[in-house]
Amino acid sequence: MTQNPPSSPDLPCKLRFYLFILSFVLHTARRSNGTVNRRFMKLLDSEASPSNKPNNRVKTTDIMVDPSRNLWFRLYVPTTTQATKLPVILYFHGGGFVFFSANSSLFEDICKRLALKLPAVVISVNYRLAPEHRYPSPFEDGFDVLKFLDTTNFEGLPSNIDVGRCFLAGDSAGGNIAHNVAIMAGVHEFSKMKLIGVIGIQPFFGGEERTESETRLKKALILSSEISDWYWKAFLPAGSDRDHPVVNVFGPRWNGILGVNFPASIVFTGGFDPLQDWQKRYCDGLKKAGKQVYLVEYPNSFHGFYCFPQLKESSLLIEEVKDFIEKQSAAQ
Ligand SMILES: *[C@@H]1O[C@H](CO)[C@@H](O)[C@H](O)[C@H]1NC(C)=O
Ligand SMILES: *[C@@H]1O[C@H](CO)[C@@H](O)[C@H](O)[C@H]1NC(C)=O
Repeated sequence: MTQNPPSSPDLPCKLRFYLFILSFVLHTARRSNGTVNRRFMKLLDSEASPSNKPNNRVKTTDIMVDPSRNLWFRLYVPTTTQATKLPVILYFHGGGFVFFSANSSLFEDICKRLALKLPAVVISVNYRLAPEHRYPSPFEDGFDVLKFLDTTNFEGLPSNIDVGRCFLAGDSAGGNIAHNVAIMAGVHEFSKMKLIGVIGIQPFFGGEERTESETRLKKALILSSEISDWYWKAFLPAGSDRDHPVVNVFGPRWNGILGVNFPASIVFTGGFDPLQDWQKRYCDGLKKAGKQVYLVEYPNSFHGFYCFPQLKESSLLIEEVKDFIEKQSAAQ
């Protein structure tokens, strides 16, 4: 007799409880009229202040890019390695294009670990959120931060930053933003900046079709089918469906062009992530388009595992990113 595969991973009790509460808050903060109750969301989404203390191993500073749309980023600089040139990682947090910000405590930890362990200068972009700001607002914000880094000498800019080795990274919706900003960057002439990799951590892709993993895991914590459909609806222009090419990248409405300059990428998937089939199709699409892509699968991982340093896969991910960065840097 064969057993049905389990529908949720084996997790420590405390973490399971936290995920349950987080899922409840994400679910309840959405109103039936399509707006978001941001005050309610603040119950769980606590904010971390920037910290410039020299005894911290990573210094953080908030840099304003455009006050008219509150576009700023949080700069993470490791203080342990001053001599060597550090690559730059432009980071986009997850949250379905709708939730969290560049100062959400939930994403501080992964940005700090990336900055310290790679090591790298990490720039977490505070892009505008849906449904107040729909497609293409976050893509424009990400691209504008890239241009800002290319041309501006701002206060706090570390002298050992190497903009010739720039990576775009993001988790979930942030992974989708990283992909789309890479396409925009591919047709732009930068003066110093060179984009050499895209890091997609469980990137948010989809389509009208329901894949096997979506059907099997449709009630997954954090990202049920119901909530992912709602996010797309909040993000896309009114009247669009999930075969829009920013959702279903290589789907029926793909224009066949990815840009000659689309860099190598690494994509992380989890065995309990409903999106895993879309993420694998995305990798296949990149390969078919002649691009270099590495797929890393963690069988016991759920959507959002990287936020929890107590999970071993969260550390393995940092190691894989480090290898990827070294490989891409060596190829320059
Ligand atoms: C949606 O509902 C909330 C709370 O019930 C209300 O404050 C808000 O004005 C509504 N927005 C729209 C666009 O209908
Ligand atoms: C986080 O960012 C928002 C603006 O985007 C700001 O209003 C808030 O004060 C910030 N919180 C902290 C603790 O820095």
